[in-house]
Amino acid sequence: MNVADTERMASILSEGGMQEADSAEQADVVLINGCSIREKAVHKAVSFLGTTQSMFKVDGKMVEHKKQIIGLGGCVGQLDQGKIFANAPYLDFVFGPDTIDQLPELLHRVESGEKHLVFAQFDPTMSYSTQTKILKPKAQAFVNIMKGCDKYCSYCIVPFTRGREKSRMIDEVLGDLAKLVGQGVREITLLGQNVNSFGKGNPNTLLREPRELKNPIGKVGPRDGEENFPQLLRAIDADPRLLKLKRVRFTSSHPLDFSDELIECYHPITGVKKLAAHLHLPVQSGSNSVLQKMGRHHRIETYIEQMDRLRAINPDVGISTDLIVGFPTETEEDFAATVTLLDRIRFDNIYAFAYSPRPGTKAAKLVDNVPNAEKNRRLNVLLEHQQKIAQATYGERIGRTMEVLVEGVAKTDELLRRAEGQALASVSDDVSTHRVWTGRTSCNRVVNFVSDTSRDLIGRFLPVKVHRATGLSLIGECSHDELASGGLA
Ligand code: 5AD
Ligand code: SF4
Repeated sequence: MNVADTERMASILSEGGMQEADSAEQADVVLINGCSIREKAVHKAVSFLGTTQSMFKVDGKMVEHKKQIIGLGGCVGQLDQGKIFANAPYLDFVFGPDTIDQLPELLHRVESGEKHLVFAQFDPTMSYSTQTKILKPKAQAFVNIMKGCDKYCSYCIVPFTRGREKSRMIDEVLGDLAKLVGQGVREITLLGQNVNSFGKGNPNTLLREPRELKNPIGKVGPRDGEENFPQLLRAIDADPRLLKLKRVRFTSSHPLDFSDELIECYHPITGVKKLAAHLHLPVQSGSNSVLQKMGRHHRIETYIEQMDRLRAINPDVGISTDLIVGFPTETEEDFAATVTLLDRIRFDNIYAFAYSPRPGTKAAKLVDNVPNAEKNRRLNVLLEHQQKIAQATYGERIGRTMEVLVEGVAKTDELLRRAEGQALASVSDDVSTHRVWTGRTSCNRVVNFVSDTSRDLIGRFLPVKVHRATGLSLIGECSHDELASGGLA
């Protein structure tokens, strides 16, 4: 979400004639897009704000430099509301996620001499309408379809920083996607705090199907007669303007909105053809007692049932999740239930975090009784356990040819050559003349592969034969023949 917000900021400013600077020192305007989900993230934003001053210090003394305009935004700005000016008087303005589009006005007012502006109010309208802005042509784009969160999980600050749920209308999203496809986009990620509760409050005037959603574990999303997420996915599949769009992903979601109709969208024949074979569905804990205290409103058995139903429909779907360890009162037994859940679901990937109390949330009133060292120990145990599972599940892909959207030359190109030289050597005769590229499969697995082509492969969908697997990625090869035989999309 923050990556997409940052791109929107850059794109709005570039429409006004500004350009990206090579470094913060050289910039005329420095915007800090801060995250407040955990304490560490807030510290990062605030300490970066400090470096905007220290970077012009030599031997402890401030040196002459051009006056920069500095703004603090994102969820950190939203929560701060300008209190930070007392400690950082050099900061020019504070803004929130709902006021990004007002950046040109803000900068104009600062340039005209106004100081310490606060633009961190929520948009008061009940509806949500926007157009996606991308900085330059590319194959992948993020598209916001809803914003805000009404779930109020007891540990989470998001409902306070992003406000109530509001969704765009399906027709507006389709028009937006058509424009992006015209700009070369081939894969989109639909974004929102709770993408699958999309549509709440939007009338289903075109009587799109499915009209109502069923979820055996409960329901909080759109009402019958309103727009909903499976309607949007099916409308994307059916829209003739979107023929060149190959993959649709979405993030993030909540089990309470993971309806049977959404599960049916993953069916290989009757489902949504463009829907990537990937689901990110945060579960947070494997223990019912912790889930209850977290205010997640479902039991672990029901999450497992949902995953079983999904896999019965499409066993190839890659599943990832978010987990929190060390929530107040989490016992060794509760934690063991989370480890057991990894064995039961066999996720492709987990994003695990140590609990961090967020002031103002319900959980912040509980005693944070798991010591930090113990939180970190549990985190490491969980990550190591997952690593072993992923090594085995990724290994199941060896020998298969998978379609990969190429994202770039592997950052670890050199590293990969050395550390995994053996693996690469086993798939290519002359590693030294071959480049290592990186991309993702439909099921969201990272694939590093060698190719001897001199062409730029970024943004191409290519068949890659998988030869090796680690717990983090697959390693394979895209042969000259495959490139020549029309593998390039
Ligand atoms: N402490 C630790 N992790 C948190 N998350 C949200 N709030 C907290 C918190 N207070 C995690 C959840 C969520 C992900 C985006 O961040 O796992 O799904
Ligand atoms: Fe936070 Fe997600 Fe819960 Fe909303 S559903 S409160 S964003 S963890």
